[in-house]
Order: sequence, then C-alpha cells, then structure tokens
Amino acid sequence: MVNAPAQIFQMTSTSVQETHALGARLGNIVQAGDVIALQGDLGAGKTNFVQGLARGLNIVEDVNSPTFILANEYYSGRLPLFHIDAYRVADAAEAEGFGLDDYLNGDGVTVIEWAERVRGALPRDVLWIEFAYVSENERQLLFTARRAHSLELLEGLKDSVASLSPQPSALSPDATSN
Ligand SMILES: Nc1ncnc2c1ncn2[C@@H]1O[C@H](COP(=O)(O)OP(=O)(O)OP(=O)(O)O)[C@@H](O)[C@H]1O
Ligand SMILES: [Mg+2]
Repeated sequence: MVNAPAQIFQMTSTSVQETHALGARLGNIVQAGDVIALQGDLGAGKTNFVQGLARGLNIVEDVNSPTFILANEYYSGRLPLFHIDAYRVADAAEAEGFGLDDYLNGDGVTVIEWAERVRGALPRDVLWIEFAYVSENERQLLFTARRAHSLELLEGLKDSVASLSPQPSALSPDATSN
C-alpha cells in the first residue's frame, strides 16, 4: 500500500478557552478506535485539550489529569474516552503491562499524554499533536497525520476550524501544508 504524504497543520491557541474549543472540535468528529497522541512539555496544554475533547464527546464528568493512576475512563459521552498519561511510564513494554493494548483495541477513543514514551506500543494510524509553550497564554499546536484515518480526521478538523465564526482570530490556522 502506498501511503499518502504526511499532513501537518499548525495553529496557535491564545487562551485556555481556545484550546478547549479546538479539543471540542476534534471530540465532535472522532470515531471509535481512534488514537490521539499528545506530546509537549509540562504545562503545555495537553490536559486542557483533552478536557475540550471530552466536552466535544458530550462527556459530563470533569476530566482531570490521570498522572497517578495512568488511565481514566469516561463512559457518559457519545463514545468511551480513555485518557492515558504516560509521563511515569518508562517505555512501551511497561505500557503493555498496564493494559495499554486493551484501550487501543477497545471501542473508545484513546488519548495519550506523553505518547512519545510509548510510541512503540501505538498503532500506525495515529493523529499526533505536539504542544509548545509560546508565552503565558499562547500555545502552538502542531498536528501530524500520516495514515488514512488520521489524515481523514485532520481534514475534518481543518474544515471545522475553517468554518469557525464569528471570531476570526480564534483558532485561525497559522499555516496549512499540503
Ligand atoms: N492557550 C492555552 N492553552 C492551554 N493551556 C494554557 C493556555 N494558556 C495558558 N495555559 C495554562 O497552561 C497550563 C496547561 O496545563 P495542562 O495541565 O493542560 O498541561 P499539560 O500539557 O497536560 O501538562 P502535564 O505534562 O503536566 O500533564 C494550565 O495552567 C493553563 O491554564
Ligand atoms: Mg497533563
């Protein structure tokens, strides 16, 4: 099979609310079995993005960082959400020990913070999102998709963001590469 070229999409969020809104847009379009891999330093905005994603799935519970228990599961929304934080996981082998595969192969949406630590345990069709601190309230989000489904997901997200109104500054894409 020939893979399509990678798609990269970059955005700047200027507030927590924007990060939530962007996460919610993705939450509106994710499908069962989707895997979203989040990268970025401490405080870069990963958990806030997941909170927005949960809102987009109509999850009613508060979503908090699962740092101490590795995974939180939410079942009140359109699809189950499995929120994993791999910060304390050494490598992919250790991730398998806590049942990462069960989440990845389950019928929910799996979102993983510090996903680079368990890269070897992830399926190939993953939407990667890298968060970078710009200034106190600004974060850069870099989306990368390489395989059919994540490419589709990223296209959907781009369409959704492009149609956002009435605040043209909010969630406006910085750059779109094709
Ligand atoms: N535009 C923004 N988007 C997201 N968070 C922002 C933004 N501006 C400021 N913040 C602040 O940055 C912090 C982001 O915290 P968050 O828990 O989401 O980070 P994280 O990437 O999950 O960190 P960790 O690796 O520790 O889990 C919060 O304190 C939030 O208020
Ligand atoms: Mg976090």
